[in-house]
Amino acid sequence: MQTVAVIGAGMMGSGISQTAAQFGHRVLLTDISLELAEKAKAGIAGRLANQVARQKITEADATATLGRIVPVGDYAPMSEAWLIIEAATEREEIKRKIFEAAGKVLGPDAIMASNTSSIPITRMAVSSPDPTRFIGIHFFNPVPVMQLIEIIPGLASSEDTIARTRAFAESMNKHVVLAGDEPGFVVNRVLLPLINEAAFLVGSGTGSIVDIDMGCRLGLNHPMGPLELADFVGLDTCMEILKVLLDTTGDSKYRPAPMLVKLIDAGWYGRKTGKGFYDYSGETPVPIR
Ligand code: 3HC
Repeated sequence: MQTVAVIGAGMMGSGISQTAAQFGHRVLLTDISLELAEKAKAGIAGRLANQVARQKITEADATATLGRIVPVGDYAPMSEAWLIIEAATEREEIKRKIFEAAGKVLGPDAIMASNTSSIPITRMAVSSPDPTRFIGIHFFNPVPVMQLIEIIPGLASSEDTIARTRAFAESMNKHVVLAGDEPGFVVNRVLLPLINEAAFLVGSGTGSIVDIDMGCRLGLNHPMGPLELADFVGLDTCMEILKVLLDTTGDSKYRPAPMLVKLIDAGWYGRKTGKGFYDYSGETPVPIR
């Protein structure tokens, strides 16, 4: 059994840990405190119990999966991991600090990977001990369900690093898209303009929140409309990605829609705060306008 480490026990880090463990990997999971990592493991236990109740997996599978997830309070135990995946907040300065600190325990052949949604890999690689063993591995939410992983080699990533990262992704039955190290890579480069444009339409009154979402769900056959998807991803994350697209390309087409800015100003980040384009306090989400 091979050990991987996940830094960041939020929605993405938890999903990555659960999926890796379900496919037989031992996972060391950490966050800024041991308590947060333990809380994330408890959340995973709840989701697995739900799958057992719906007879999607057996009790034995759930127990074995949980047994493979080990919350840790610091980076020291990660020296035994062949792969360290950073899944922290989408802020470059936070990620760089993690690469520097975790880099001190990175094994001599181990890979450091970032689950960044948009920040250039080549730029962040310089904060890791060995840019040839640094790479982007971009998961999609909810990780256990979504079939794709984008792999983004930086300028210095070695062929061996790319091949081992791909093998890891495929070991979890995911499809791999190899994306260039360009702002937003492939999927978010397409997705964020869609979400942003939908937010512009809310602001201009071109369509209601419900109609814009229904239009895209039924007219494009998307499982979620762009505004419900934005709430699902987190409006703060959407904003961070748009900022990266705008700053790195200088192209004004990525300027955040005023409606998005307003929601961020209000502290309404989507599902995680209970409010975004929709209010999630009741039984079913209600559009805010
Ligand atoms: N974690 C784990 N599993 C989940 C889940 C979660 N948060 N939410 C739903 N699921 C599972 C359910 O258990 C169910 O599994 P089953 O088929 O084994 O019973 C399955 O997903 C379908 O769930 P539901 O029937 O409850 O609900 P839906 O059919 O409405 O599907 C959805 C929910 C899968 C979230 C679907 O609406 C969807 O695919 N939405 C779009 C998601 C998407 O686009 N994600 C990418 C976002 S972009 C991103 O992540 C990149 C980042 O960088 C911004």
